[in-house]
This record gives sequence, structure tokens and C-alpha cells, in this order.
Amino acid sequence: MSRVIVCCGTGGVGKTTTSAALAVSLAMRGERAVVLTIDPARRLADALGVELSNDPRPVALDGAGTLHALMLDRKATWDGIVRRFAPNEEAAERLLENSYYRAVSTRLGGSHEYMAMEKLYELVESERWDVVVVDTPPTQHALDFFRAPDRVHRVFDRKVLGMLVEPGKGLFNAATRRVVQIIHRLAGERVIGDIAEFFRLISGLSAGFRQRSQAVAELLASEQTQYWLVTQASAPARADAVAFLEEMEARKLVLSGFLVNRVTAAPGDVVARRPMQMSETEWAAWKPALDALVAAKAREAERHQAGLAQLATTAHGAAVHPLPDLGSAIADLEGLQRLASHLPAV
Ligand SMILES: Nc1ncnc2c1ncn2[C@@H]1O[C@H](COP(=O)(O)OP(=O)(O)OP(=O)(O)O)[C@@H](O)[C@H]1O
Ligand SMILES: [Mg+2]
Repeated sequence: MSRVIVCCGTGGVGKTTTSAALAVSLAMRGERAVVLTIDPARRLADALGVELSNDPRPVALDGAGTLHALMLDRKATWDGIVRRFAPNEEAAERLLENSYYRAVSTRLGGSHEYMAMEKLYELVESERWDVVVVDTPPTQHALDFFRAPDRVHRVFDRKVLGMLVEPGKGLFNAATRRVVQIIHRLAGERVIGDIAEFFRLISGLSAGFRQRSQAVAELLASEQTQYWLVTQASAPARADAVAFLEEMEARKLVLSGFLVNRVTAAPGDVVARRPMQMSETEWAAWKPALDALVAAKAREAERHQAGLAQLATTAHGAAVHPLPDLGSAIADLEGLQRLASHLPAV
């Protein structure tokens, strides 16, 4: 059974980067690791040195274990579900070509998160990996991640759009019926026809689909799965992270710890000394600016340390691990390894 490590957190804090670094660190320590990235920045894909696709590709890492990486392709993952759960080939093809399916499957709120979970399950099921590290989509709010399955299922609920398809049925009041008539007029018969067909086809695969999401939910709640919250030392980032933690606790999920990314190191005694090539006069012009830079860096480092201490008091007992800001160094595997060397053993 593979272990699962989920890196969550709000937008832009470094989830994708830390997921990759975690996977690197696990592979270095001898595990067969795979990392599922979501919309990785070009530079990160370049750092892994592999053309990422919806299926795991090997990363050339010189360690005791192995590392594979993939990038979530929402549409391909949706289509895979349809193929797997359709009663037959023909039903699958018709659903894949259905215009309503094509619109909802990729644009639907929560679809990104839901497909990440689906892909994760696929990876675990394959039994090829000791550990699966999962990056999560950028969310503005902690709730988005955990609400995804509900939001997706609501769309597949016949009741919601059922009245559009069969407006004559059911006990609708006059006002509702009027709205449905307007939608019919606006959307046109063809679209309504497509929606009707969508519901007919989707109901054919919903049993397997539902069972599957039940299994995914169980996996995410099991002891097999660890959660790390990626955040930063600033006050707004910390507040978001604590809100996320509270959301997790409400769902009885256990947090393994906070990874506080991009912490500024104290500049130490980087006393600006005059470079040999520079005249005294030139140096006198430059020095105040350099001193000011060092002082600003020192203040930032102090603020970050205070932020870490503050987070520790609101962390509900979860561990708080700082990760250094590496500037622009995360452009290759070596950069990721450097970040990995600061990660706790997981
Ligand atoms: N420790 C670090 N040192 C320096 N740069 C970093 C570090 N961590 C992340 N970055 C940089 O910060 C940027 C955002 O990182 P990343 O894409 O991992 O964030 P994310 O949380 O996945 O964002 P999104 O929510 O948009 O998916 C990237 O350019 C990345 O290279
Ligand atoms: Mg990301």
C-alpha cells in the first residue's frame, strides 16, 4: 500500500515546489516516489528535467530510490473515468462527445480538486509506488479543496437539472415553470437535448463513479494519508493556514505539520567590504545603499522568525518547519535537492 502525502495551502505559497522537493527527498532516501503536480510553473518542470504529462515519467535522480513525476490533465482524467465506468464503448463515446459533458467536465467548480483526487487514487491503486506526493490546485479558500467532491456530485444529481430535461414532471410552482420555459427558449432544443442525453448517459455510470469517490474519501481520511500545510511567515499567509487547519480538524483530518516556505535567513555579518577594484570615493557612494539592504534583510529575517514563533502558538500542537527562501535557485534538480535537504523526514 502506498503512503500518500498531500501538500495543501492557499495560492502561491509554494505547494508545487515543496511537493516536488518532498518527492525528491523521499526518492533520495530509497523510496519509489511519484509526485502529482498541478499546473507546475515552466521552471519547475524544467528543474525536474522531464516533459511532464498525465502519466508518470521518470526523473533522472541519482539516489537510492526512484522518482517519477506527472502533471494533472483534467480533461484526460475525466475522460478516463467515463471510459472506465461506462457500461460499454458506445455509451462512453457518446458521453465524451456530448456538448454538455464537455462544458461541465472541465469548467465545473471543484473539478480540478476532484480530478486530482481521482488521479491520486489511480496512482495508489497501481501499487507501483511506496509513496505518492500530491500537490493541490491553487485555492483561495481552504473550503474549496474539501468541498470539491460535494460540488462535483451535485452536478451529477438528476434532481438539480432534471426539471430542465423534463419540465412537465414534478411539482413545480408557476414561477419555477416560468423560469424553466425561459431557459428552454434561451438555450434552445439542441442544448436541452444534450443535457437530457447527458443525464441518461451519466446515470449509467454513476454507481461505479459513486463507489469510486467513496473509496477516494476513505483513502483521504485514512492513516495512510499525511497532510502538510504549506504556508509563509507573513501574517495573512499564517491566518489562511490556521483557517485551513481548522477546516481539517472539523473533518477529523490530522495535520502532520506546517512547512513555512521562503523564510529569509538572517544576513549575519555580511559587512560590505570595499572590493579591490573600487576607489574609496566610489565605495563611499555605494556603502550606504549596501548597508541599508543588509539592514532590511535583517529586519525581514526577524519578522519571519517572529511569524514562525507566532504560528507555533496557534498551530494546535502541529510541528512548524521553516524552509529557506532560495532566491532564484530552484531552476534545476540541484535547487530542488537543496530545498529537500531542509525538509523534515516524512
Ligand atoms: N523556497 C523557495 N525559494 C525560492 N523560491 C521559491 C521557493 N518556493 C517557491 N518558490 C517560487 O515561488 C513561486 C511559486 O511557487 P509554487 O508554484 O510552488 O507555488 P504554488 O503554491 O504551487 O502556487 P499555486 O497556488 O499558484 O499553484 C515559483 O516561482 C517558485 O519557484
Ligand atoms: Mg501550484
